[in-house]
Amino acid sequence: MNTQKTLYLAGATSDMALAIGREFAGQGWNLILGGRDPQALEPIRTDLEIRHNIQAKTVLCDVAQPEKTIAALEAIHPAPQGMVCAIGYLGDQKKAEHHWEEAAIILHTNFNGCVALLNAFANQLELNRNGFIIGISSVAGDRGRQSNYIYGAAKAGFTAYLSGLRSRLAKKNVHVMTVKPGFVYTRMTEAMKLPAIVTATPEQVAKDVFAAYQKGKDVIYTRWFWRWIMLIIRSIPEKLFKKLSL
Ligand SMILES: NC(=O)c1ccc[n+]([C@@H]2O[C@H](COP(=O)([O-])OP(=O)(O)OC[C@H]3O[C@@H](n4cnc5c(N)ncnc54)[C@H](OP(=O)(O)O)[C@@H]3O)[C@@H](O)[C@H]2O)c1
Repeated sequence: MNTQKTLYLAGATSDMALAIGREFAGQGWNLILGGRDPQALEPIRTDLEIRHNIQAKTVLCDVAQPEKTIAALEAIHPAPQGMVCAIGYLGDQKKAEHHWEEAAIILHTNFNGCVALLNAFANQLELNRNGFIIGISSVAGDRGRQSNYIYGAAKAGFTAYLSGLRSRLAKKNVHVMTVKPGFVYTRMTEAMKLPAIVTATPEQVAKDVFAAYQKGKDVIYTRWFWRWIMLIIRSIPEKLFKKLSL
């Protein structure tokens, strides 16, 4: 594999991750597809190789098994130059309010697990003094809403983590970009009735992410108008906010 241009997709079964992967593959990047069931990723791997004339590999990436996942990452030689972390679990907010097990899975998948994986990768990049990390957080982390505040809390933590990591690695020629999508049509949201006017396709998100990566942006909202939507939501006084059913 070409050492200079290999991207690791964590959560490679995600439509968003795949769309981003295709943007990179279109520019000649080889791909490592990290998923909970690497075998199931084989047809996607083959399709990417043929369609984009690149090399692709599959590896285990399950943040419920961090030791195995980190070992699999560290066994990749040469190490990938970049990673897109698209791991996420929306979960069931109502269930999580009554069953700590559901809350724990939401928190672990969206925060602890991503931190474990990115810590390991960040240390590799720091040693190599080269590379980048693109972390997919969410607008849900900008303000806790009653409808999904456990997921939102994990994403808020992830956003703060990425900010600190960016600051640490900036001195080591490693770039960290935070992506905050609003609504996106994916498997995660397929059961939800989303307002079409503010909902993006994974392909639109991928174009935004790739363009921002090329410009070296630190934090992006996608689509762009979510920056302004969240500014308004963050500006609502707590006294009023608690009366809303957002
Ligand atoms: N869709 C939206 O509206 C939206 C909005 C804001 C942010 N996001 C974020 O965007 C990212 C991509 O999500 P998506 O919308 O494309 O939904 P998705 O298809 O559900 O993708 C989630 C990904 O996370 C993986 N995953 C779940 N648990 C995991 C674990 N324990 N270890 C490793 N991987 C695990 C899933 O793998 P499996 O296939 O094995 O389940 C899948 O690849 C996520 O971080 C999500 O939180 C989505």
